[in-house]
Amino acid sequence: MIPETTLNQIQERVNIAEIIGARVDLKRAGKNFKANCPFHQEKSPSFMVNPDKQIFHCFGCGVGGNVFTFLMKFEKKDFREAVEVLANHAGVEIPKDKVVDAAKEARQNELIKAHRLACEFYQNVLWKDKVSERVKAYLKSRGLTEETIKDFQIGFAPEAWEALGTALKKDVPEKILEKSGLILPGKEGKYYDRFRKRIIFPILDSKGVCVAFGGRVLDDSQPKYLNSPETEIYSKGRQLYGLYQARSVIRGEDFVIVVEGYMDVIGCHQAGVRNVVASLGTALTSDQARLMKRHTSNAYILYDADAAGETATLRGLEILLEEGMEVKIVRLADGYDPDSFILKFGIPAFREALNGAKNLFEYKVALLKTKFASNTVEGRVKIANEMVALFSKVKNEILRAAWTQELAKELGLSEAALKMEMEKTGASEKPAQPFQPQIQIRPAVTGEIRTAEKILIGLLLERKDFLLKAREFLTVEDFRHPALRKIAQEMLLSVEPPTSLSGWMGLFREDIESAEMMAMAVAEAEKVSFKDKAFEDCLLWIEKTKIEVRREQLQAQIVDAQRIGDRNRIHQLLQDFSELNRGMKKSHEKK
Ligand code: UTP
Ligand code: MN
Repeated sequence: MIPETTLNQIQERVNIAEIIGARVDLKRAGKNFKANCPFHQEKSPSFMVNPDKQIFHCFGCGVGGNVFTFLMKFEKKDFREAVEVLANHAGVEIPKDKVVDAAKEARQNELIKAHRLACEFYQNVLWKDKVSERVKAYLKSRGLTEETIKDFQIGFAPEAWEALGTALKKDVPEKILEKSGLILPGKEGKYYDRFRKRIIFPILDSKGVCVAFGGRVLDDSQPKYLNSPETEIYSKGRQLYGLYQARSVIRGEDFVIVVEGYMDVIGCHQAGVRNVVASLGTALTSDQARLMKRHTSNAYILYDADAAGETATLRGLEILLEEGMEVKIVRLADGYDPDSFILKFGIPAFREALNGAKNLFEYKVALLKTKFASNTVEGRVKIANEMVALFSKVKNEILRAAWTQELAKELGLSEAALKMEMEKTGASEKPAQPFQPQIQIRPAVTGEIRTAEKILIGLLLERKDFLLKAREFLTVEDFRHPALRKIAQEMLLSVEPPTSLSGWMGLFREDIESAEMMAMAVAEAEKVSFKDKAFEDCLLWIEKTKIEVRREQLQAQIVDAQRIGDRNRIHQLLQDFSELNRGMKKSHEKK
C-alpha cells in the first residue's frame, strides 16, 4: 500500500494539465484545456482537462477521472505503476520496504559518484590535456574567464570512444555507468562514451551535486547540445541550470531572471548579473516555477528574440503565473540572446533592458498589436478576445480589474463589454443549461434520474455547505443509480470526509468507474448556472421520487394482500397509502 500522505503529496505537486499535455495535444479553452479525446475517435474536441479541479473528462465517451486515472487508462498501467511515474515526476519518494529502499539509495549514491568522477575527469581533460588548448581558446573567444570556467566546472570530453568509460571503470560498475547514460552499449557487449569532443556543462542540483551534463560542440555541427538522459537522479523538468550558483543572489535581489541556455546563464553571471537560471531548453515546468518560488516570487523572462523564444516566453509566463509568481518580460533586440547582447552592448544596456521590462499586460498587447490591426474594429475585437482569455489566468482580482480598465482605454472599448466577455470565458465551454427538474417520475433508473443524481453528486463535490446539508437530509438509498449510490455512500457516511475533490477521488483510486463517474458529475454540475436553486431542486426531486417509489410499492403490496385476503394488512396498507397521498412524508419510514 502506498501511504495516503504520499499520494496527497504527489497530487499537490503534479499538474494534470502538464501531465496530460505531455501526452495529448491540449488547447486552451478558457480556464480549461480541450483536445480530441485520446480514448475514442472524434473530429471535434470534447475531451476537457480542468486544472482547477485537477480532473479530466470527455463529454463524448464519458471517460474521466484524475491524474492517476488518466495514466492508468492512457498508458495501460496499474495503479501502483501510475503512482510511480507521477511520484518520479513530482520528485516524491514512495516509501518502500527497507530492503528495496536501501538498494535504491545505494544505486543513487553510485550514480552520484559516477557523475562526480565524470565531472572531475572532464575538467582534468580541459585543464591538463594538451589537445584542449583549442577548447580553451574557444571558451576565451566566447568571453569566458578562467574563473568563470572553474565556477561552472566546465570541462571537455575528448575525441575518443572509450575515454570516460575506461577512466571510470575501476571505480564504478559498468551497469551503473550505463544507467547514468554516460556510456552507451555498442557492438559486442562493448560500451562507448556518450559525450565525445564536446564542451561539458555540468548540471548541478540545488545542493550543488552534479546530476547530469550538457555537452556543446565546438563548431556548427549538429546537434549543438547533447544532454544527459533522464535518470534516477535527474529529471530535466525538475532542475534549473545555474540555480545552485544563483540562489543566494536571487534571494538578495528578490528576483530571478529566466533565460534559455547554458551560455546565457554563464555570460550573465560573468558580467555580474548573477540571479540568472536557465530552463534547460525545454518549456518551463511548474516544478521549475516552484523551485524558483522558494527564493523569490518575482521573475523576469528573458528569452531569445525569435519566434521559438516568443512561444516559450508565453508558455513560461502562464506557468509562472499559475504558480502565483509576478512576471515581467524583457525583449532584447532582434537576433540577440542575453549572452550575445551583453557581449555586444555591455552591462549598462542590459540593465536598461531589464528596467524596460514589460508586465504581462503590456507585453501581450504589444505582441497582439503586431498581429492584428488595432486601427480596425475587427482587429481590436480580436485583441480584446485574446487579452480576456489571458486575464482568466490571473489569480489576483485587483490586478485583473486594473487590467480590464486599462485594456478598455487602450482599445477604446467599454469596460462593461469586456467584463461580459470575461464572464463568458470564465464560465464553462458549453452554454450553461438551466436545471429543470422533471415532474414525471418513474421508479426505474431512468436517464433523468441518472442526470439529477449525477448533478447532485457534482454539487456535493463542489460545495461544502451542500454536502453538510445532504448528510443531514439524505440517505444512501435515496440514490437509485448503482454507481452513483456507491459514491453517495462514501459522501454521506464517511467518518472523515475529504476536504477536496482530489481527496474524494482518492477514495476511489483503484475503482476507475467510480472516479469516472465523479469526474462526469463534476463536469455536469459545472454546467449548472444557479447552483443553490439546482441543489434545492435536486432535494425536491429526490423527495418526490421517494414518495413515488413508495406509492408504487404500496400499490403492489395492496394487490398482493388482496390476493391472499389479508384484511388487516390491506387496511394498514390503505391507511399508509392515503397518508402518503396527503403528503405525510414520514409514513414511508414506518414498517
Ligand atoms: P541555444 O541554441 O540558444 O544555446 O539553446 P546557447 O546556450 O545560447 O548556446 P550558444 O550561445 O549558441 O553557445 C538554448 C538551450 O537549449 C538547449 C540547451 O540547454 C541550450 O543552452 N539546447 C539547444 C539543447 O538541449 N540541444 C540543442 O541542440 C540546442
Ligand atoms: Mn547563445
